[in-house]
Amino acid sequence: MERLDKRLAATGRWSRKEARELIRVGRVAVDGAPCRAPEAKVGETAPVTVDGAPVGADRPVYLMLNKPAGVVSSTDEPGERTVLDLLGEEYRNLGLFPAGRLDKDTEGLLLITNDGPLAHRLLSPRRHVDKVYYVEVDGVLDGGDVEAVRRGVTLGDGYECLPGELELLPGGRSAHITLREGKYHQVKRMLASRGKPVTYLKRVRFGPLELDEGLPKGAWRPLSDRELKGIFSQQYENFGSFNKKISKNY
Ligand code: URA
Repeated sequence: MERLDKRLAATGRWSRKEARELIRVGRVAVDGAPCRAPEAKVGETAPVTVDGAPVGADRPVYLMLNKPAGVVSSTDEPGERTVLDLLGEEYRNLGLFPAGRLDKDTEGLLLITNDGPLAHRLLSPRRHVDKVYYVEVDGVLDGGDVEAVRRGVTLGDGYECLPGELELLPGGRSAHITLREGKYHQVKRMLASRGKPVTYLKRVRFGPLELDEGLPKGAWRPLSDRELKGIFSQQYENFGSFNKKISKNY
């Protein structure tokens, strides 16, 4: 038996605090009955649902989505179209969630899964999993920006970003940027602090996963066996220079 809030937090989808809040507002049920007590003890195999979706569903699912602009990276947000709304009916009640977030106007690679521990590993700040974005800016990026990103940009609120990589594309109005952390609006804030506001942003790599350029915007597919091997290999941390790994032009 373990505490209900602990069981939810163990999925990696919610912090203990978020789990307690979900429980208190009545979104969690155990054995089909709503339970508002974070400290309630639940058995290992007791079915727990959040908003009716099983937590830790027994069928693990791993999907690659090419997120379009205009949808939010959450499972439920009143008045918004979510990335889960893009999936078919058969994916409705499997406890899926996006591993990580992209802004509403950001496009590109999103891993959708119900594997909390895996998501937790990929997103853990300690692991510094590479994220690569294709970015377009208002302005012209130059060597000073490359150097600033390499050293670690200081954001407007004083936060010092970890060193990243910026590779300029011809003309300097676009680039690939590699980050090893995932702060709120990070790419936009980094480049805004250089006076080059982002006009378009698309994630093209997340750890070992590279966006499948054959996936139209809004489309998704299960990960291939090779991709699954990649995300479970634990070899995806600190890839080094991304241009050795990005095989396509975006
Ligand atoms: N950085 C941003 O600014 N936005 C995203 O969606 C992802 C990274």
